Amino acid sequence: MTWQSAVPYNDLPELPPGVEIETRAVLKAAIEARAALAALNQAAKRMTNPTVLINSIPLLEAQASSEIENIVTTADDLFKFAHDESAATNPATKETLKYRTALFAGISLIQARPLSSTTAAQVCTIVKGREMDVRRLAGTYIGNPATQAAIYTPPSGESVIRDKLSNWENFLHQRGGLDPLVTMAIAHYQFEAIHPFEDGNGRTGRIMNILMLMAAGLIEQPILYLSRHIIEKKDKYYRLLLEVTRDGNWEQWILFMLEGIRTTALSTVAKIDQIQALQDETLRMIREATSAANADLLAVLYEQPYCRIANVVERCGVSRPTATNWLNALVLEGVLVDVKSGRERIFINSRFFQLLMSPEIAPEGEPTLF
Ligand SMILES: Nc1ncnc2c1ncn2[C@@H]1O[C@H](COP(=O)(O)OP(=O)(O)OP(=O)(O)O)[C@@H](O)[C@H]1O
Ligand SMILES: [Mg+2]
Repeated sequence: MTWQSAVPYNDLPELPPGVEIETRAVLKAAIEARAALAALNQAAKRMTNPTVLINSIPLLEAQASSEIENIVTTADDLFKFAHDESAATNPATKETLKYRTALFAGISLIQARPLSSTTAAQVCTIVKGREMDVRRLAGTYIGNPATQAAIYTPPSGESVIRDKLSNWENFLHQRGGLDPLVTMAIAHYQFEAIHPFEDGNGRTGRIMNILMLMAAGLIEQPILYLSRHIIEKKDKYYRLLLEVTRDGNWEQWILFMLEGIRTTALSTVAKIDQIQALQDETLRMIREATSAANADLLAVLYEQPYCRIANVVERCGVSRPTATNWLNALVLEGVLVDVKSGRERIFINSRFFQLLMSPEIAPEGEPTLF
């Protein structure tokens, strides 16, 4: 039986795909993406304060990934409440912070045991904020948002879904000599095509992508901002997923994902260099503005683009009046901007914030294939 958009796709083929995957174009793109990822990993290691990235990129990743589901929050709110998820009042901000929490939970999970469908269910539970397990009820489908017409209907029946997930899981671990990035791309399609949960499959699948790269030892920290590529090209992302199902067009799908890895890795490398330069400049200004400030102050200002007096007290081991004096001096110098949030003062490292949010620099190299 051929595939039909409104009929549960219980015939979804198992992995590995039964066609040649590593074509010349795929191999070439995989090599380039691997090199970019290695450069990112190295650049992160060179940083004096890598916490900057570990705190900020996952938040931006969370924002981009959640936006695909139309959960739109501001980066402003996200960073403001990064330290304290429970203080966020805006539902979209809460949702997005859950993605970040789920990503970090996923990292701890794969440190304890290999990535599996159990990991996916646990991650999805955090993303959704309620117990999630494999779908038991029929009726889930991907539809056209305007007309509700079915675009794709995933397999139905708990045991069918569990079988397909266990094949997915085996493929992750015995990938048959395929490149790990190619494996990730294939596994991401399959996960979305199985669509194991009632909701949250996109976000969970995008967290799985980062976990796969970490499990393969290709990045040591979750600092690949891959969802930006996906959100910016959301129509293409949807179209190419569908083309694998409908036409077996694996090549374009895999090239799309590899290109995303390459460009996001390279643009983050460029950002790392800019952050480093800005930090050096801030350190000079701190020395001018405050005679006694210690190096920990710089770290606080760059762990997140937002900080509170309490963060400085805690981190630098100084009294509240001293911390306040330092921060006030940096406001006068124009390094920080202070804003009120309820009864509290929040200090924004505005240039750092702008840098994090600025459009990524187009990576150098060959023109892209698309
Ligand atoms: N034709 C398709 N075949 C398989 N999967 C698809 C297809 N079109 C979209 N998807 C996947 O389904 C996801 C949406 O599913 P779901 O609503 O369960 O996830 P979500 O995390 O709640 O939403 P979102 O991914 O929009 O943030 C998309 O992000 C995409 O990964
Ligand atoms: Mg959804």
